[in-house]
Formats: sequence, structure tokens, C-alpha cells
Amino acid sequence: MWQEITADALDWGPFPRRKGNWFLVTAGKEARCNALLGTYGGLLSLWNRNCAAVFIRESRYTKEFLDREDRFSLAVLPEAYRDAVRYCGAHSGREGDKFAAAGLTVTSADGVPFPAEASLVLLCRKLCACPMADARFAPDIAAGYYAGRWEGNPHTMYIGEIEKILRKD
Ligand SMILES: Cc1cc2nc3c(=O)[nH]c(=O)nc-3n(C[C@H](O)[C@H](O)[C@H](O)COP(=O)(O)O)c2cc1C
Repeated sequence: MWQEITADALDWGPFPRRKGNWFLVTAGKEARCNALLGTYGGLLSLWNRNCAAVFIRESRYTKEFLDREDRFSLAVLPEAYRDAVRYCGAHSGREGDKFAAAGLTVTSADGVPFPAEASLVLLCRKLCACPMADARFAPDIAAGYYAGRWEGNPHTMYIGEIEKILRKD
């Protein structure tokens, strides 16, 4: 059963490298949406709001949905769904219905889609989309993340206000 919790009760840390801290970013309508596996992102306080940031490369199909919609979700799934989550990070929705192929079910709240299998969901209102193509990166970041095979495939940083937090035990 879903129950709404406050930001204070949220026990998911902002550090992307924390073990198991993989999340699915979903955007679109319940009838037609797409999700990808993300690890870049986290929680932040900005503009007097509780916010979440995600970083999405230009090439991702999910980006088309994020750019079109005012809202998106960030969902954490239990360990049992690790393979399904991994699938969402290894296949593009351009190949077909990724949710179905991953064995996940789409549901929604307040018109924002997310995987029903999630144990924690942040429903976010997009506050800004910041293309990072012209960002001034430290040399190691420029070389490691935006050159070579990543050339021409920059991240856009999306910051969303967390409008609702849903948790399921
Ligand atoms: C562990 C892991 C973390 C990832 N984190 C991100 C991320 O933060 N941002 C991003 O744009 N892609 C990330 N990806 C890649 C996307 O999940 C992957 O390219 C996905 O297939 C894109 O799907 P789409 O084209 O349907 O949007 C990650 C992949 C893995 C395996």
C-alpha cells in the first residue's frame, strides 16, 4: 500500500555512488512513457524547495519525454527488481515498450508515471532544464565524460521540485 511521507522521513541519501542507489527516471503519460536507469543525480535544496536533480544525456529517448512534460518521477526499486532496472539501463525505449520488456508495470499518481514495482517514488515538477554543452568542466571531467565516445552527447541537468514522496513497504 502506498503512503505519503514527508521529506524528513525520507531515508534515501543523495549520494549516487551509495550501494543500491540506482533509480529509474520516468516521464511521459501513463499510456505512453519511457524510463531509464540513472545514477547521476540526487537531492538538493534550491529556490526554497526540496528538489531532485537528474542528469540525462542528449541521446536518451527518455529525454524527449522529459523535455515535453512538466513533470517526471524518480523511482527506487527493491533489490528483487535489479535485473529489470538493469534492463532499463541497457536498452532504449526506441526499441519498443521497455516497461513490458523489463517486466515492469506502469502506474501513475497525479498524472505522473512510474513503475508500480517501486518502493520509493519522488514526483517532481520540472523547474529547469540546463543543457551542459557549454559548461566549463575540470579537465578530468571533460576528458572522462564528454570526449571520445561521449563527444557531442552532453548531459542536461533537470531540477525538479519534489511535489510528493510515495513509499511502499
Ligand atoms: C548504472 C547505470 C547508470 C546510468 N546512469 C545514467 C544517467 O545518470 N544519465 C543518463 O543519461 N544515462 C544513464 N545511464 C544510461 C541509460 O540508462 C541507458 O542509456 C538507457 O538505455 C537509455 O534509455 P532510453 O534511450 O530509453 O532513454 C546509466 C546506465 C547504467 C547502466
